[in-house]
Amino acid sequence: MKYSTTMSLASKSSSSCIIIGIYESKKLSVASENINSVASGFLTKLITNNDISGSLGSCSVIQPPNEIKAKRILIVGLGKYKDFGIREYRQSLKVAMKKINKRKIDNVTNFLTLEDVNGVSAYYLARHSIEIIRVSQYQFNQMKSKPKNQIKSVKSITLAIKNRSDIRQTKLGCKHADAIVDGICLARDLGNLPPNICTPSYLGKTAQKLAKKYRNLEAKVLNENAIKKLGMHSFLSVTAGSIEPAKLIIMKYKGTTKQKPIVLVGKGVTFDTGGISLKPSHKMDEMKFDMCGAASVIGTIAAIAKLKLPININVIVPACENRPGGNATLPGDVVKSMSGQTIEILNTDAEGRLILCDALTYAKRFRPKNIIDVATLTGACVVALGHHRCAIMSNDDGLAKAIFDAGEAIYDRGWRMPLGKEYDEQLKSNFADFGNIGDGAGGSVTAACFLGRFTSGMKWAHLDIAGTAWLEGQKKGSTGRPVPMLTEFILREAGLAK
Ligand code: BES
Ligand code: MN
Ligand code: ZN
Repeated sequence: MKYSTTMSLASKSSSSCIIIGIYESKKLSVASENINSVASGFLTKLITNNDISGSLGSCSVIQPPNEIKAKRILIVGLGKYKDFGIREYRQSLKVAMKKINKRKIDNVTNFLTLEDVNGVSAYYLARHSIEIIRVSQYQFNQMKSKPKNQIKSVKSITLAIKNRSDIRQTKLGCKHADAIVDGICLARDLGNLPPNICTPSYLGKTAQKLAKKYRNLEAKVLNENAIKKLGMHSFLSVTAGSIEPAKLIIMKYKGTTKQKPIVLVGKGVTFDTGGISLKPSHKMDEMKFDMCGAASVIGTIAAIAKLKLPININVIVPACENRPGGNATLPGDVVKSMSGQTIEILNTDAEGRLILCDALTYAKRFRPKNIIDVATLTGACVVALGHHRCAIMSNDDGLAKAIFDAGEAIYDRGWRMPLGKEYDEQLKSNFADFGNIGDGAGGSVTAACFLGRFTSGMKWAHLDIAGTAWLEGQKKGSTGRPVPMLTEFILREAGLAK
């Protein structure tokens, strides 16, 4: 996709499709105002006749009057003028793209960027725009013999800008968003692939392919022997029932000589049956998404490598299946983690923390500036926050805030949840150092507390993405979240987001 900027009037654009907006109560947007006056009240007439509406989410494609050069005008409702913010901007552009994607339209010029979106900068408007536009074109057809309803690809996007001084920031926003969307699409593909294809080995090969593609990016894939040598018996206990071999994937992006790395750890359970603590079969297919944490950290490092950012990032992905079997771990089994701490496995379905704890211990050798693990860890998190925000838990207030702020800025949002001794005590075990589950109450927090026992001395945050990594029902599919939040956090750490 090609990106450009324009300062010319909407009425003069010769684009195949221009996107303009109207607010409720007949208030026109900047571009609508221009079109309306050039075409003698054309839009006001449509509004008065109730042919177009300003309510948020409404959208119509109309043939332009003679005075207007563009081939089509797409008019979207922007809702109440005083309420127009990032959420409304993103929603109206999404609605517009839904219409555009049904037609063959090569180039689109978006004039909604001329609106005041809660004072959001030109850089972020470009980020939001390109993210929405490109992600709207995502489709997953790899597994269909005859793909239907294919989306026609838009070849070029032009963003309207107010001042010459916005050109540079808008271009930078497009460039960053483009790489981030590549990361989102990669994460989505990995999530959507079936569990008989997206195995731990497949994740490893994906990492190695990326390392070939990008300079400064390397990937190492350790097999079960090497994992055993490291003493990761907690990790290995999860894969014990599977024939498919587990892998420990380590990726390093080196964009600068000095500086400690930011380490990202992603849960890579390529299918979670629950193990001996077997899950019910309803919707169990969705447990193919249990590697979405892994997919998101791989997608993030790919985006960073594409942008050649002057920062160091390491990724660690413990990848395996969780299955019952003759060798499967039993409830009551006690295992020794790489840290030396022993764990009584009271529920084999609380497997995410068992693979992450060894990965977190491994991460200490990198002396991370900070470490963030990303995991579809608990059903309790979906109950707490739904599908809108992920949970952020951290042992460092500054880190928690930085991640939260990054999420707000790019609208891939999280919400902080607590840690604390009172929750941690719920992990008590009569037979080992601690158990792998609490008593059920506050399940997302006790899961995070479990991980917290392996992160001492590190600035650490945990993201529980169980509610946000994929959509259910008709729209079933991976979202690619939290690639936008993570890349935004990293861009800010590198001092590069405006
Ligand atoms: N992968 C699941 C968490 C999950 C469940 C994510 C449903 C999204 C939707 C995780 O491995 C799991 O099974 N967690 C258990 C923990 C419990 C046994 C303490 C859960 O949440 O039920
Ligand atoms: Mn589980
Ligand atoms: Zn799981």
